[in-house]
Amino acid sequence: MKKLNVGLIGYGFMGRTHSNAFRKVNQFFKLDYQPVLKAVCARNEEKVKAFAENWGWESYETDWRKLVERKDIDLIDIGSPNNTHKEITLAAAKAGKMILCEKPLSMNAKEGEQMTKAVEKAGVANMVWFNYRRVPAIALAKQLIDQGRLGRVFHYRAKYLQDWTISSDLPQGGAGLWRLDASVAGSGVTGDLLAHSIDTAIWLNGHIDTVTAMTETFIKERKHALTGKKQEVTIDDACAFLARFKNGTLATFESTRYARGRKNQNTFEINGEKASIAFDLEDPHRLSFFDHKDDALSRGWRSIHVTDFEHPYMDKWWVPGTTIGYEHTFINALADFLGGLGTKSPARPNFRDALDTQYVCDAVLKSAKTMKWEKVGVSKV
Ligand SMILES: NC(=O)c1ccc[n+]([C@@H]2O[C@H](COP(=O)([O-])OP(=O)(O)OC[C@H]3O[C@@H](n4cnc5c(N)ncnc54)[C@H](O)[C@@H]3O)[C@@H](O)[C@H]2O)c1
Repeated sequence: MKKLNVGLIGYGFMGRTHSNAFRKVNQFFKLDYQPVLKAVCARNEEKVKAFAENWGWESYETDWRKLVERKDIDLIDIGSPNNTHKEITLAAAKAGKMILCEKPLSMNAKEGEQMTKAVEKAGVANMVWFNYRRVPAIALAKQLIDQGRLGRVFHYRAKYLQDWTISSDLPQGGAGLWRLDASVAGSGVTGDLLAHSIDTAIWLNGHIDTVTAMTETFIKERKHALTGKKQEVTIDDACAFLARFKNGTLATFESTRYARGRKNQNTFEINGEKASIAFDLEDPHRLSFFDHKDDALSRGWRSIHVTDFEHPYMDKWWVPGTTIGYEHTFINALADFLGGLGTKSPARPNFRDALDTQYVCDAVLKSAKTMKWEKVGVSKV
């Protein structure tokens, strides 16, 4: 097995999911590459040292530039907030490192274009952690669609709902709460949550052509955790948009952090001429499927328990009927990335795929301002 020395940036939520994936991937997947947990980087020395010890990272850095310069690092994994993605990518690509980057790719499409250009010019392997593509039930939806089981698709309906920002006492800025600060996050639910829904939608149903959107910021001012001062909130707390896909499908997308009781509900339903498919992350190992060609008496929505060896990824885990969870989507994604290295079909979504999602996000945010239909951008780089 070839060793691949990894340098991870960020020890927060994603730092943990990624560390777990690097540690476990070779235990479950037969691969030519073996990640080595070489160094983790974050700014607080005491905390990064403790994180490194807990997860088995060999060393640590407190400045990502030092990490990128290290000759013993082959791959840079970006698990830090959105406003750091561009600068780290440009430096890592220049240094010839492979790059894994968290979603959303960037603060906006302009940054995403620079990043895509940089990784492609450097010819370095790259992937963006849109991990929901690796939920077995969603990967099964992709297989069924690719087999033509839905026929012509009329409707695509997606929701991504949370409820954790309803309290006006919640500050903006700092660990975890940087998501409420547009200067760090780029946008609110559009980049954070809808980017996931859009990536899944493009993967399952092709490109999105035009959008019209509305956004709202329900709580206009919040104390900033870093300055202690009350500051204007400029992220979108909620966003809903209509879309037309290039294939003619009509779509609705909705996201909010104000849906009381919804912690992380990510759903979609697709209605085709021959069949429909529905998924709900609150019941992640099930895919709902309605096939019009079933006999009229027994026809109905079936709930496929996606745990059989024939189902995507499931032959790598336990036995039929037993489930896997959230953390496995990152392990599955990493296995795809490592499995694709040096082959003619490297893992997706790559930076260019994630840039397509960024173009949709930009058009959505633009439309919310202009109150008009907006055309989704197409890469010129
Ligand atoms: N794929 C997913 O489902 C998913 C889920 C959550 C977050 N994310 C993405 O992952 C990224 C990180 O989010 P998170 O939830 O882990 O955030 P977090 O706040 O939990 O952790 C961020 C980490 O980055 C570190 N950091 C911040 N600035 C840094 C800098 N300049 N240099 C080095 N380290 C720095 C922080 O110290 C912290 O360790 C974001 O881009 C986010 O959108 C993706």
